[in-house]
Amino acid sequence: MCTRNSLIAIAALALALGSGAALAQSPGLGKPLGEADIKQWDIAILPDGSNLPPGSGTPAQGAKIFAEKCSACHGNAGRGGVAPYYPALVGGKPLTDGIDTVKTIANYYAYPTTIFDYTRRAMPYNMPRSLTDDEVYALTAYILSINNLIGENDTMDATTLAKVKMPNRDNFIMPYPDRL
Ligand code: HEC
Repeated sequence: MCTRNSLIAIAALALALGSGAALAQSPGLGKPLGEADIKQWDIAILPDGSNLPPGSGTPAQGAKIFAEKCSACHGNAGRGGVAPYYPALVGGKPLTDGIDTVKTIANYYAYPTTIFDYTRRAMPYNMPRSLTDDEVYALTAYILSINNLIGENDTMDATTLAKVKMPNRDNFIMPYPDRL
């Protein structure tokens, strides 16, 4: 007797054989990615600092780079360019107006590593991925320092950065608390 289950099993077998045949007929295009290819794209930094690269930077070093590569858009000392396109990177009022409050690094970001990750992958806006890791550490240190979130002589690196506590951190729900 042909039960419903055995019909499903036969159908699944036919499907498996069918897709096996399709694979066998692969046109053989493309080439497997090597470690080095994957590394170039594997740049996401997690809140606990995983995947932060070697290197370091201080607010003073960052101030110099900021003046050269960032202030044309973000304004002097990150106070903002032409709103709303070029956001201020310093200050921001408390999130009292809920969703309508302008969100900034200081009033909104939950993790300091986001500044590093975002700056490295997206800034300067007109030349993303052009900064060295040391420059990104220095710029991150500078942005944290002008927001009074670290001292002006603190060095940011793979160990110190993730330890900075952002003011809004506890208002986020972390789905993987054991990663922090
Ligand atoms: C050509 C203009 C331009 C330059 C130069 C530039 N930025 Fe930006 N930046 C922007 C724009 C536009 C945004 C907002 C992008 C968006 O919201 O999609 C932004 C967003 C940011 C943010 C996120 C702000 C937030 O509130 O979430 C950071 C951090 C940042 N920039 C850092 C930098 C740093 C550091 C430099 C210098 C290396 C830099 N930017 C250079 C235009 C620029």
